Amino acid sequence: MKYHIVTYGCQMNVHESEKIAAILRGKGYDRESPLEEADIIVFNTCCIRENAENHAFGNLGALKKLKRERKGLLVAVGGCMAQEAGKAELLKEKFPFIDIVFGTHNLGELGELIDRKKGQKKAVISLKEEREAVEDGIEPVRTGFPGAFVNITYGCNNFCSYCIVPYVRGREVSRDFREIVKEVEGLVRSGFREITLLGQNVNSYNSDGRGGLSFPELLDACASIEGKFRLRFMTSHPKDFSEELVRVVKKHDKICNCLHLPAQSGSDRILSLMNRKYTRAQYLDRVKMLRSAIPDCALTSDLIVGFPSETEEEFEETVSLVREAEFASAFTFIYSPRTGTKAAQMPGRIDEETAKRRIMKLIAEVNENTRKCSEKFVGKTTEILCEDYDPKKGLYLGRNEAGRMGYFASEKNLIGEFVDLKVERANGVSLFGTVEN
Ligand code: 5AD
Ligand code: SF4
Repeated sequence: MKYHIVTYGCQMNVHESEKIAAILRGKGYDRESPLEEADIIVFNTCCIRENAENHAFGNLGALKKLKRERKGLLVAVGGCMAQEAGKAELLKEKFPFIDIVFGTHNLGELGELIDRKKGQKKAVISLKEEREAVEDGIEPVRTGFPGAFVNITYGCNNFCSYCIVPYVRGREVSRDFREIVKEVEGLVRSGFREITLLGQNVNSYNSDGRGGLSFPELLDACASIEGKFRLRFMTSHPKDFSEELVRVVKKHDKICNCLHLPAQSGSDRILSLMNRKYTRAQYLDRVKMLRSAIPDCALTSDLIVGFPSETEEEFEETVSLVREAEFASAFTFIYSPRTGTKAAQMPGRIDEETAKRRIMKLIAEVNENTRKCSEKFVGKTTEILCEDYDPKKGLYLGRNEAGRMGYFASEKNLIGEFVDLKVERANGVSLFGTVEN
């Protein structure tokens, strides 16, 4: 039997889909297939912005015909959107052909839900208010070789006023550091070369005391594992970004000199309305502290435009922050009101046209930084972890420590290997050159 998983949203979801695949395989769905040929289709949804939801709704609508044509096809919908208040009912109403709805806290139960559904005609809807166990005990089907994700925390306690994550993923819980270190060791032993530690706010790891170490200590322990590999982590909340963490990043070559530190806005008033708990000056102080310890550290960010009541001047402060903090790249978003969050109640909605104009300007600024950051590598040699082959370009590709994508020709399959790329030219985030070793 065959399965197909549709994933929306962040790396956390990509990794959770690897766990869903493992559960499906345990239930006899032993092969991944195109959507049209699958015996079970699982939608792993995201609700962080409205367009992610619309996307899932659109794709689900398109399944109606397939479901009619393919007898025995099961359709399951899980993830953040399914967990959102009232959404499970809405999903069933709009798409009565859905067989299973499961949430973010009970992914591990999917196997039982499939069995249950097979024994009854009625749809199975199963949502839990909170995560019951920290360890899900699922051995994921890894899809990202030579990269692999490792969860260190689940959930978030921050309640940034625009964000729905704390409502759909619950309070932050930390995995025991021994479990994490064991998982990283196993991955390195089986040949994975880039491990990314995942949490909504990795810096508050162990806030519940269940981790056993602080985040810098955990990072130190992971980076002390023998073998040639890279270590990344995301996401870091600037309010908890410490000198101790920077010391550990500096101490280990294995930890990439590339940090994702979402600023969200460059305006103090907007930051306060966002409940981010830092000011522009404090953010820039932390950047300064980082750069004085590790001058070549690449810094990336998330930025939101069009937050309720954001003035033109306040938006310009975000633009100038891009310049001042010298972000190597940044994800830019138009604010999207999410039901149940504080910001959704705030006055001063910014019209679509203004928001679009602002994001275009911000993207141009970010692109300029991206270009400058890539240019710095031209004429130099940079280490690339080869990840893939692009048949259209006829080139292998992979990222360097700073997240730049390097392209090069090779007779040999180099996927999973580190190569030294002599960079000849740059284009946006991409570097082109020849391999030296
Ligand atoms: N609207 C726009 N962007 C959002 N993000 C989170 N919630 C919203 C929202 N309601 C962005 C933040 C966060 C990233 C993962 O998504 O920038 O860091
Ligand atoms: Fe959302 Fe803020 Fe938590 Fe990130 S830190 S998941 S933006 S509430």
